[in-house]
Amino acid sequence: MLTVLSVHHVGVQTDHFENCLNWYLDFFEAEQIWQLDRFSRLTLRRLPGIRRLTEVTAGGVRFHLFDRVTHTGKTPSPDDFLFQHVCLVVDGAEELSRIRLRWLKLYKSGRYKFMLPDPPTEIVTDADGIQSLYLFDVNGLEFEFTYVPGETDG
Ligand SMILES: [Fe+2]
Repeated sequence: MLTVLSVHHVGVQTDHFENCLNWYLDFFEAEQIWQLDRFSRLTLRRLPGIRRLTEVTAGGVRFHLFDRVTHTGKTPSPDDFLFQHVCLVVDGAEELSRIRLRWLKLYKSGRYKFMLPDPPTEIVTDADGIQSLYLFDVNGLEFEFTYVPGETDG
């Protein structure tokens, strides 16, 4: 059995690098850490058309943003295999409302191109009091934000 297993980073590919980077910086209130524009043969084979890779971090989560010139610019069909969503935990219920409002504010600003027009969901609460919010990034990738009472309270 593995004794230590945690997420190191979430990889995101985009065909509109500046749009994606700026949105991640603004939406996640993230910081850009490093950027690469030279890649190993393995990376070039795995990600044809890669031009840039940058790491941004927010709240202890790293995102690796991959700029791919050969990207189709399409999102997978909902029936295709894909990671269905990445779930990030927040430390207060009120944070979910703030995240939702920030998404709407950035969407309405007109500064970003979104692959999907869908707004964030409402904040839902399950029978155990766990609250969740679902939304898409500019590339049409789904994130869940969740608040689990008692799990992250000091
Ligand atoms: Fe989930």
